[in-house]
Amino acid sequence: MKREEFSKVSSATKHPARVALAIVKDKNDKYNMITLEWFMKTSIEPPMFAISIGHTRYSHECLQNFRFFNLCLPAKEMKEVSMICGTKSGRDIDKFEVTGVEWSAGRLAKLPILKDARANFECKVITQVRSGDHTIFVGEVKHSWLNVEKEVITVRDLA
Ligand SMILES: Cc1cc2nc3c(=O)[nH]c(=O)nc-3n(C[C@H](O)[C@H](O)[C@H](O)COP(=O)(O)O)c2cc1C
Repeated sequence: MKREEFSKVSSATKHPARVALAIVKDKNDKYNMITLEWFMKTSIEPPMFAISIGHTRYSHECLQNFRFFNLCLPAKEMKEVSMICGTKSGRDIDKFEVTGVEWSAGRLAKLPILKDARANFECKVITQVRSGDHTIFVGEVKHSWLNVEKEVITVRDLA
């Protein structure tokens, strides 16, 4: 065991990590998707997820206005979608148009449910906390959707 820089230890221990897409809505009612590695379940009853979003992300701005998000677990086939949503900003492009993902309106806030994902969780933001250059948004899950035929993608699949 050797003492190292945080960044070195962190990247050497990140696999296998799951990837998620958070789906949000901007003030012009345009939907946006952001790829996330930093998310986790934080409560069983009621079910809750926390997502950590950088202050510079367009999705951060969206979540300050519209306090709902869908947490989507993409399927293995959604590598390109996950890469586009993780490298392009909703400030510059419409990610739904560019990726052509199929979706239907959810029940909670009508945010898109991605048809070909492994799972979708419809969440209402309950609280948020600043964490350095990110904000952790905690969402209570109101509806859950599962596609049993699909497998989840991991960060390794994106390499
Ligand atoms: C595999 C992967 C994981 C990522 N994880 C996060 C994350 O947990 N939090 C975050 O703020 N950005 C994360 N990003 C970066 C954002 O997805 C990226 O900056 C995105 O373009 C922001 O989109 P927006 O400006 O439309 O919100 C990740 C990117 C990739 C490719």
